[in-house]
Amino acid sequence: MKIMVIQGPNLNMLGVREQNIYGPMKLEQIHEQMRAFAQQNGVEIEFFQSNLEGELVDKIQECLGDSDGIIINPAAYTHTSVAIRDAIAAVAIPTVEVHLSNIHAREEFRHKSLIAPVCAGQISGFGPFSYHLAMVAMLQILNEIRAMKEMQKQQAANQE
Ligand code: DQA
Repeated sequence: MKIMVIQGPNLNMLGVREQNIYGPMKLEQIHEQMRAFAQQNGVEIEFFQSNLEGELVDKIQECLGDSDGIIINPAAYTHTSVAIRDAIAAVAIPTVEVHLSNIHAREEFRHKSLIAPVCAGQISGFGPFSYHLAMVAMLQILNEIRAMKEMQKQQAANQE
């Protein structure tokens, strides 16, 4: 089982940018915590950050046949990117949308996510802990899919 974590524009500046909103933690530190949690749970994890919309689309496409789940913080592209939404819909890999800040409590233009409708769910507002919650949600989704596949295999075997 492999989870791909995709981080959008300006998230490479965490720890520097708007600390009153995003806090002091750097992206590498968040990734360290996620890596440790993935290891404890026996799943592979990979991280990718880009400031470019097309590179984010390319990475989502690359997940096909490579990753079982996607955790994505599309950052500002959350509110604008039809291309990222379409890429997630195209690969049809279970995806969890994450935000550090509560986008619904901020400026009105942040209230709308073009990404959320093609995701399993959205986690928003818990700072770096949002990523931990996203990992927990993703592990649950992957376990449910695995259980469903095993049940279908069993049913098929019973019919033979
Ligand atoms: C963000 C929220 C977005 O509105 C913003 O553009 C970001 C970060 C968050 O994690 O809270 O860059 O995705």
